[in-house]
Amino acid sequence: MAKFEGIRACVFDAYGTLFDVHAPVAKLAAEIGEKADALSKLWRQKQLEYSWLRSLMGVHADFWHVTGDALDYALAFHGIDDPGLKDELMVLYLKLDAYPDAKPALEAIKSRNLRTAILSNGSPSMLDAAVRSAGLDKLLDEVLSVEDVGIYKPSRRVYRLAMQKFVIHDAPAICFVSSNCWDAQAAAQFGFQVARVDRFGLPDDKIPGKPRALIKSLGELPDLL
Ligand code: 2OP
Repeated sequence: MAKFEGIRACVFDAYGTLFDVHAPVAKLAAEIGEKADALSKLWRQKQLEYSWLRSLMGVHADFWHVTGDALDYALAFHGIDDPGLKDELMVLYLKLDAYPDAKPALEAIKSRNLRTAILSNGSPSMLDAAVRSAGLDKLLDEVLSVEDVGIYKPSRRVYRLAMQKFVIHDAPAICFVSSNCWDAQAAAQFGFQVARVDRFGLPDDKIPGKPRALIKSLGELPDLL
């Protein structure tokens, strides 16, 4: 695979890329029963849908709120009426497992003196909790939240935030990494050099934007840079 050229900073999506969004339901799977897998997938899908819908409607609420609304919907859809379960799942969302390849990849990238950041839909307090609980705080120069611009990805205003924070004027100097196809493609369309991590065996979405690299795990990232 061709190496990325002229990279000065490496910017990561958070949820689904560094952190496993299905870990909370997986931890309570025995309690939830056979609907657990479908519940987790619908929770994630609705979380994203609500972020896009709110962005289009111009009615922003932060990702903690959106994540709670999405869980309410997913629980109702599956006929689960258990407020205690909702509270437990939300608490677990603050200490998501990092994927095992996340820390070694960040360490390798830091050792090359590249700047590192998260650029995420997450609210600052959610991101702070997840980053600290996974022990990634020392490996990230910046943790950037869409709350600084008040609209969700894939708005170009969000990707521009990374350039502003790093004072980088040319988009291709940023390597953006995401396992969310739509996020990877939108970031490529914006102008970043993008690596999509194919964690879920998904085809590209039928929207503009082509990542430069498709990798199976974050372990392949350092060799691209
Ligand atoms: C994130 O922004 C899209 O959930 C993803 O972290």
